[in-house]
Amino acid sequence: MTSQDYVVRAIRPAEWEKVRSLRLDALRDPAAPLAFLEGYEEAAAKDDLFWQDRATGSGEGSATARQLVAELPDGSWAGSLTVLMEEAGTEDWAGLPVECRQGHVVGVYVRPEHRGNGLIKTLVDAGVTWAWERGAERVRLLVHQDNERAQGAYRKAGFVPSGARVPFFRDTTQDELEFVLDR
Ligand SMILES: CC(C)(COP(=O)(O)OP(=O)(O)OC[C@H]1O[C@@H](n2cnc3c(N)ncnc32)[C@H](O)[C@@H]1OP(=O)(O)O)[C@@H](O)C(=O)NCCC(=O)NCCS
Repeated sequence: MTSQDYVVRAIRPAEWEKVRSLRLDALRDPAAPLAFLEGYEEAAAKDDLFWQDRATGSGEGSATARQLVAELPDGSWAGSLTVLMEEAGTEDWAGLPVECRQGHVVGVYVRPEHRGNGLIKTLVDAGVTWAWERGAERVRLLVHQDNERAQGAYRKAGFVPSGARVPFFRDTTQDELEFVLDR
């Protein structure tokens, strides 16, 4: 596949079942324990309303979050990420102050058969573009210190480590690193 074979677009609220399916597949990936803050069992136990709310809250039309997917010609989804808008003067989920309007990229996942072909850069670029359109001054994400493949992908999209680190919740002897892209 080349990047021309994918259509990168925002999810639609009605697509909540596909959102759930892709997320549950991501949480069964061998990289999931380092990549995601949620376990498969936890996500699988959530009811339909949770997924409907998620698809509405990050679907096209939402100003505060955007989930992008890479769609194949047959309608299946090869990968996804979500950009959350964070506002200056608020606190992030770790209790740290947010100092400027920024995008926060989460839930980054590309199905194994679509890795290494440039799709992730297309997805990240689209997420960053949306954040700039929403007035973000920077875009950030957190990546586990040992998730070197993801770090490589983010560097290729222009992100660099900010120096900020957050203890990894599954093992506080390890850290997640903040990577940033300034406007
Ligand atoms: C993270 C992810 C989206 C990246 O997409 P990808 O298509 O695999 O990324 P790419 O192959 O384009 O880029 C990775 C880069 O890191 C390099 N890399 C791969 N494995 C590596 C390793 N173990 N150590 C160092 N560099 C590595 C690759 O060589 C590549 O660089 P190159 O193209 O210059 O060779 C995808 O691997 C994925 O979904 N992983 C599982 C979920 C995950 O980890 N999500 C991120 C959470 S923060």
